[in-house]
Amino acid sequence: MKALMQELKESALKAIPDADSLENLEALRIKYLGKKGELTAILKQMGKLSAEERPAMGQLANQLRAELESSIEESKKRLEAAALEAKLKLEAVDVTIPGDELKLGHKHPMYMALDEIKDIFVGMGFTVLDGPEVELATYNFDKLNAEEGHPSRDWSDTFYFDEDSRVMLRSQTSPMQVRAMETMKLPIRIVAPGRVYRKDEVDATHSPMFHQVEGMVIDKGVTMADLKGTLNLVMEQLFGKGTVTRFRPHHFPFTEPSCEMDVQCHKCGGKGCPTCKGEGWIEVLGAGMIHPKVLEMSGIDSEEYTGWAFGMGLERLAMRRFKISDLRLIFENDVRFLEQF
Ligand code: PHE
Repeated sequence: MKALMQELKESALKAIPDADSLENLEALRIKYLGKKGELTAILKQMGKLSAEERPAMGQLANQLRAELESSIEESKKRLEAAALEAKLKLEAVDVTIPGDELKLGHKHPMYMALDEIKDIFVGMGFTVLDGPEVELATYNFDKLNAEEGHPSRDWSDTFYFDEDSRVMLRSQTSPMQVRAMETMKLPIRIVAPGRVYRKDEVDATHSPMFHQVEGMVIDKGVTMADLKGTLNLVMEQLFGKGTVTRFRPHHFPFTEPSCEMDVQCHKCGGKGCPTCKGEGWIEVLGAGMIHPKVLEMSGIDSEEYTGWAFGMGLERLAMRRFKISDLRLIFENDVRFLEQF
């Protein structure tokens, strides 16, 4: 037995310091000292010894166990230290390397222009509304006096979701007029900015998705003079004192009379250039006095109340505000362009 223990001791004390991982070390511990390990196997033979021999042999076995345990403990410390060292090396941070520069973005120029426009109107007591881009034809057309068969309802111009042409991507923000009339108390002063959609090919001045800012005032005694005065004031605040505008007669089904407003071209000052297509003017909005039929359809007494509304093209205004020559630049989001604002 003594010889067996000596043999075990020699091979164990050679193997344990050589263990190259904590898993291997644990396997060795089980192999030598485990319940079914080699030391236990040897001790099973104690029964064969005489009563005089047993205590000495027992003592020897305990000594061996203690020796192996301390060798295992030592190896364990060594392996843990090595593992920690490796981990620290892996996670080492060189604090002398210059850091990555954090690039801070900023608001898109179109939203800068929108914020300015909203501020101007909020300053005049208007409330800012938000509304659905997926709209019912009821709001986009019917209640705006564009009856079935009206050319603006054509499939070639409008993105419909259903065969019956009842659900669509709104083609204008004007449905917000109706939504406001149906839900708000009079008098009403609102602006409602948002995306609109039309089946247009992309070019320097067109996109199938663009933004409008709808505006509407309904009160007693409101006139076309209020509309012109308000819009002129807004254009001066946006583009500077002395900004020249002009109003041209136009037609919309939901306003009567109707007009379009142009601002003088910023590139050529009215002489005519590529930006204004030789016109000297840039069309920025449609407007008019709300048609009495539209007021009545939304339950407002058109004898007592009058109102006006407008729909601005936000991209056009942003382009003039920031002297941008091509609409596509606004949507491409090339940082070389955006960085300039
Ligand atoms: N909705 C019209 C358009 O998209 C603009 C408009 C709004 C005209 C409000 C009159 C009143 O062209």
